[in-house]
Amino acid sequence: ARRVRTHHLREMKQRGERITMLTAYDQYSAQTFDEAGIDVLLIGDSASNNVLGNETSLPVTVDELLPLTRAVARSARRAMVLGDLPFGSYQGSPQQAYDTAVRFMKEGGAHAVKLEGGAEMAPQIELLTRGGVPVMAHIGFTPQSEHTLGGYRVQGRGDTAARVLADARAVEAAGAFAVVMEMVPGDVAAEVTRALGIPTIGIGAGPGCDGQVLVWQDALGLRTGRMPRFVKQYADLHGVMLDAARAYAADVRGGTFPGPEHTF
Ligand code: KIV
Ligand code: NA
Repeated sequence: ARRVRTHHLREMKQRGERITMLTAYDQYSAQTFDEAGIDVLLIGDSASNNVLGNETSLPVTVDELLPLTRAVARSARRAMVLGDLPFGSYQGSPQQAYDTAVRFMKEGGAHAVKLEGGAEMAPQIELLTRGGVPVMAHIGFTPQSEHTLGGYRVQGRGDTAARVLADARAVEAAGAFAVVMEMVPGDVAAEVTRALGIPTIGIGAGPGCDGQVLVWQDALGLRTGRMPRFVKQYADLHGVMLDAARAYAADVRGGTFPGPEHTF
């Protein structure tokens, strides 16, 4: 199948065809989601708290994300491979953002990058876009700014809706090819989606967006415990893996694995 490119996503919006996006951080998740026809694979900084054992996305580094990005890029035949710029690797200046983004493309094999921020990131988005790096912006609730936003909370309620719309317009004007909206009221997200020419990808932003994204360990039920309201669980991988690991352990302990068919 043909590689998904930025113009395809824009055409999908124009046709009213919804865009599908999941995170992926390694070979087999990437191959499987690519085979399933997921349009965009995001090597999220959420690898921090879904792969590397941290509590939040804040600690993950560029050097940690690059090998994961490379693994996904080597494994996806059709999907767009989107690198997520981690906290502290782009906010300092447009030049810092460019240098980081170039590493994601040259060393990681990413086709585009995502960064968090609205109007305040316009200079970064402009320089990257001019310099050959397609940028997906990320507005609404931005986890890297958890401590300035005062925790995990919906953004754009009441009179702050105008701020979300202004951020969306600013990133579009700066050259972003799409924008993630996280934890924004559904009616606000739908209004932003109608106002923009570029596609919006929602997470906790309702059905009025041009596409949706979820962290795969949430969507496929590998992670357990309290989930955000916006997660729908499509499988119980935790249960499947737990049962399989227990069955393996029982076989080994009982001497029934390996059997003759596994033995040379
Ligand atoms: O890091 C991530 O997984 C993300 C998506 C959930 C949008 O930024
Ligand atoms: Na992220």
